[in-house]
Amino acid sequence: MSGMENGVNTVTLRVNRFAPRAERARDRERGGSPFARKSSPFGDSGTSARRRPRGKQWLQDYTLNVRPEDTVLDCLLKIKRTIDPTLAFRYSCGHGMCGSDAVSINGTPTLLCTASVKDWAKPSNPTLVDDEGFRHTGDVSDIQENAVGAGDLGVIELAPLPGFPVQRDLIADIDQMLNQIRKLKPYLQARGELATTADGKINAFEYLQNPQQLAKYELLSNCIACGTCEGSCPVYAGGEAFIGPAALIAASRFINDSRDGQANARMDAIDSADGIAACQSVRACTRECPRGIDVGEEIWQLIAQVKER
Ligand code: SF4
Ligand code: FES
Repeated sequence: MSGMENGVNTVTLRVNRFAPRAERARDRERGGSPFARKSSPFGDSGTSARRRPRGKQWLQDYTLNVRPEDTVLDCLLKIKRTIDPTLAFRYSCGHGMCGSDAVSINGTPTLLCTASVKDWAKPSNPTLVDDEGFRHTGDVSDIQENAVGAGDLGVIELAPLPGFPVQRDLIADIDQMLNQIRKLKPYLQARGELATTADGKINAFEYLQNPQQLAKYELLSNCIACGTCEGSCPVYAGGEAFIGPAALIAASRFINDSRDGQANARMDAIDSADGIAACQSVRACTRECPRGIDVGEEIWQLIAQVKER
C-alpha cells in the first residue's frame, strides 16, 4: 500500500531564509541609527524600501508529514511549533481575509493560508532517468511516486513577497505600500453633513445608491491590501517610481463610491508620473488577486476616467 493510500504523506518546504545583521551595540547605545536623528532617508520608515537589508541568507529544507489538503500556513505552523521555532512568517486571520501572509510560493505571489499542499507541491526531481536509462516524460504524478517514494508529495518553494525588502525569513516590509495607500486618503469624504433639528437632535440622513453603484463599491472594497498584485507587477518594486496597483485600487474604491465628494481631487492625486502614467498595462496584477478583483481592468477603467474628465 502506498503512503498516499494509508494517509501518510510528506512534503518538503524549501524556505528562503534571511536573518538581518544584528544591530551594532554602539548604535543601540546612541538610541538607533545616528542618521535617523538627522532625518536622513535611511532613517525614515516611510522610505525603508530604498534600504537594502543586510544579513545572512540561506535555503533551508523542512520535511514533514502532511495531509494533501493542508494549507502551506498549516505546514509552517507545524514547523514553528515542532521543528524550528526560529522560522519567521506573518499571518493573522488564517482564512484569506486580512492579507498579512502574502509570500512567493514556487515563484508566484499568493497567500499562505489559502494555498494547499496538493495544489502547490511539485516533484523534487522531474527530470528523472528511468531504469533503462530513458529520461522520463510521462505523467508528473508517476515521476513523483518513482522519484521521491510513495506518499512524498514533493517540494514547495517559499520566499518573501517579491518587490519588497525582506525583514526576516518570509516577512516582507510592506510599509512602502501602506504609505502609498495612506497618501491617497483611503477614507470616505462624504458630502453630507449631520444637521440638527430645532430641538437639538441629529437629523439623520442616508446615502442612496443604485445596485450598480453598490456592486462597484462592494467589489473594490474587497481589497485586503495583501500586496500580491504589487509583488506580481514588473513595474512596481517597492520604490517611488510607481505608486502601485494596490494604491490605485484604493483610489478607485473611493472615486467610484457615489457617496464620496472628492473624486476630482482623488483623480488629481493619481494623475502623475508615478501614478497612472507609470502603469504599463502588463496586467500581471490581475492574475493572483485573492479577492477576485480584476486589478488590471480596474486600473484601465481608472485611467480612462482620469483622462476623460
Ligand atoms: S487588489 Fe487584490 S492583490 Fe492587490 S492588494 Fe488588493 S486584494 Fe491584494
Ligand atoms: S492569514 Fe489572513 S489572509 Fe491569510
